[in-house]
Amino acid sequence: MSVSTRSVFDRLGGPDPFWTVARAFYARIEADSDPTFRGMFPATFDEAVRNQAEFLIQYFGGPTTYSDRRGHPRLRLRHMPFSIDVAARNRWMEHMRAALIAAQIPSPEHEEMLAYFEHAATFLINRES
Ligand code: HEM
Repeated sequence: MSVSTRSVFDRLGGPDPFWTVARAFYARIEADSDPTFRGMFPATFDEAVRNQAEFLIQYFGGPTTYSDRRGHPRLRLRHMPFSIDVAARNRWMEHMRAALIAAQIPSPEHEEMLAYFEHAATFLINRES
């Protein structure tokens, strides 16, 4: 199969890079200095890291462990309790951009993941600034 039709999951060689991204991302969330932004997220992150890693693994073509455990992602619905305005969306993206770099995700998978996040993060905006 050609590179372009294999999933990001297969091309990155399995689940480990997604766990690395999720851990790097939540380490940044944990250290975020904006109390309003930081306050949206839980005090401890084991469950959040697991949700994020398993979701990304599923989204990018790996096993469906996320939905087996949590059901349909329904991301917009699940994010409704949180105030996601443009500023929060951009702050989230900054942390995710840094996490992809920290996890050393190679090209072109890095750009493919980034393109998904840019799109999905905009789709999740649910409040006016
Ligand atoms: C590309 C964009 C995003 C994706 C793919 C994404 C994905 C996820 C996933 C899979 C969960 C776990 C849902 C569950 O199973 O309960 C989650 C939870 C959460 N997300 Fe997002 N999210 C995105 C953007 C955002 C943004 C922009 C914010 C806020 C600024 C945000 C805030 C949260 C919070 C507070 C939680 C609950 C805590 C947690 O379990 O992590 N998310 N997100």
